[in-house]
Amino acid sequence: MNTSAPGSAPSVLVIVGGSMAAVKAPAVLRRLRERGARVQVIATQSALAFITELSLATAADGEVATDATWFEPRPDAQHLTLARVDAAVVVGASADLLARAAGGRASDLASATLLSVAGPVLWVPAMNERMWRHPAVQANVARLRGWGHHFLGPEVGAFGTRGEGAGLGRMAEPEDIAAATLALLHPPRPHDLAGLKVVVSAGPTREYLDPVRFISNPSSGKMGFAVAEEARSRGAEVVLVTGPVSLSDPPGIQVTRIETALELRDAVLEAARDADLVVMTAAVADYRAAERASEKQAKVAGDVTIRLTPNPDILAELGQQKGNRVLVGFAMETHAGIERAALKAQRKNADFILLNYPTREGTAFGGDDNEVTLVRPDGTFEEWPRLSKREVARRLLDEAVRIRNKQRPET
Ligand code: CTP
Repeated sequence: MNTSAPGSAPSVLVIVGGSMAAVKAPAVLRRLRERGARVQVIATQSALAFITELSLATAADGEVATDATWFEPRPDAQHLTLARVDAAVVVGASADLLARAAGGRASDLASATLLSVAGPVLWVPAMNERMWRHPAVQANVARLRGWGHHFLGPEVGAFGTRGEGAGLGRMAEPEDIAAATLALLHPPRPHDLAGLKVVVSAGPTREYLDPVRFISNPSSGKMGFAVAEEARSRGAEVVLVTGPVSLSDPPGIQVTRIETALELRDAVLEAARDADLVVMTAAVADYRAAERASEKQAKVAGDVTIRLTPNPDILAELGQQKGNRVLVGFAMETHAGIERAALKAQRKNADFILLNYPTREGTAFGGDDNEVTLVRPDGTFEEWPRLSKREVARRLLDEAVRIRNKQRPET
């Protein structure tokens, strides 16, 4: 997430860990600033055993945040303010700092800030080879990688003041650290969808009872828009068919706005004819009014019964004429999620379904994050951590490309 205004300098938080490599931190700060970044610094308590606050402050743009400054009376919560950066890099990451972050600790300023950093995080470890290879450290690294964190090094070479640390464990060079940190802000997109057509449905449908009343749901459309934008950035021709949402048309994408499930069906089936991938994120109303009144219905005394009739299942229709297309659905379940999603994928002939849980905090309708489980028709599944919707879109497309390549090994 780039929180800077377009064209403004990216902001980078440099966290300095308690390792001998902390002495290289000022060089990292200088390289980042030379490349146009605004830098802020946190030094952990043990980092200050290796490097002084003064050397860090001289190389940074401002004060050095430490556990001491965290507890100074101030109007803001320092760990939250510092977390509002475009990217964070942990220089001289020690085994203990990795463990604190992987354990979700907030016991010091560095770990508390890492819990709330919104942008990408790059770890640059430096430690003794035996420590680095220990299963505990490797488990922490794997956990952080699973959350989308990035790693640079450690490298092979001499390190330590007396060269006692020869072997694996040396920290990467400041120039490479600065380059890798800034590269996270503009990761090169694979162009693996060039020449392919992707159809995405998004948002809710509205099932009108009369001209001014309808049945609907709170779908925001954010997930579908993220898939459409990610597919476009990877070179696909994208058609986005969306129900009423407050998002504006993304550039370079053909957007068709619809209201009802029947309109959605027509638009999706038409666009899907020559499509290679169809992703149904739309929250389609399962029913519509059996009779839609042409005039506004006045209220009457007593209870009213509305007769509903089922809407066509668009994903299932696509599944009946699947051809070479890859089909992806979404499902919301509150119980027996994996079994139900696998059965749904079978019934609708979808390649996989991303299952989410409407009851989980922060991942429900309208949020910017999603926590999904990829479920295949054979019942196998992968639980993904809580990710931004854009990151979910990226992984969804990675899986779709894998399936497509398996189906057509020659391409
Ligand atoms: N879907 C669709 N057409 C419908 C209903 C759903 O294409 N009429 C798609 C959704 O876009 C989603 C997937 O099917 O990708 C799963 O939707 P869901 O509503 O969970 O499935 P249902 O078969 O309606 O199951 P349930 O009985 O749980 O409502």
